[in-house]
Amino acid sequence: MTNPVRGRLNSAFFALMDGYADRRLREPRQLFAQLDGVVVDVGAGNGPLMRYLRPGTAVHAVEPNPYFHPRLRRSASAAGVELTIHQVPGEAIDLPDASVDAALCSWVLCSVSDPAAVLREIRRILRPGGRFAFIEHVAAPAGPVHLAQRLVHRPWRWLFEGCHTDRDTAAAIRAAGFASVELSEFRFRSAFVPVRTQIAGLATR
Ligand SMILES: C[S@@+](CC[C@H](N)C(=O)[O-])C[C@H]1O[C@@H](n2cnc3c(N)ncnc32)[C@H](O)[C@@H]1O
Repeated sequence: MTNPVRGRLNSAFFALMDGYADRRLREPRQLFAQLDGVVVDVGAGNGPLMRYLRPGTAVHAVEPNPYFHPRLRRSASAAGVELTIHQVPGEAIDLPDASVDAALCSWVLCSVSDPAAVLREIRRILRPGGRFAFIEHVAAPAGPVHLAQRLVHRPWRWLFEGCHTDRDTAAAIRAAGFASVELSEFRFRSAFVPVRTQIAGLATR
């Protein structure tokens, strides 16, 4: 259930962090610029990735949290994309099988209740040959980042509405039945230590 206080706070927090995050993620985010046709942004939030899509792109934003919607609409309008918002969870996307050309998500599989179900839905709605691009923060190997992830796990999850610092999302994507998966790990250089270990990649249906 979406919390009206934390929902608004999260949207405001990500709006405040937008420039900072985008500067540091500009290189991996080029993945999203490769997508075309009908594109689904799962867990679109305020829409920070709209700026990577071509103007005129038809974008279906799956965003269950209504407190993100006003900023999401503004991002889409600034980027000149055609936005349709679906206020449903990624575990139950209301789009037909094989109906979209591409899907993307960024910092979402950490937060969903059931990552395997969301990946199943993404695979279901993609047409054969369609691509899924992602950037996600993941569990770090043993070391200081891993320790920080363990220490903050509970308050972090509460504050960021279900965000887990310790998920093995690479394994989940590899196990999701895509025809191919290319991914690499990178370090998100920021003061937010628990999310320093990230993966970026492309999976093809
Ligand atoms: C950390 S924000 C990331 C937003 C945006 N993708 C970005 O890169 O800034 C996580 C987003 O996932 C959304 N989310 C949480 N649970 C979800 C679910 N089950 N299905 C789809 N989106 C979900 C949240 O509402 C929020 O917008």
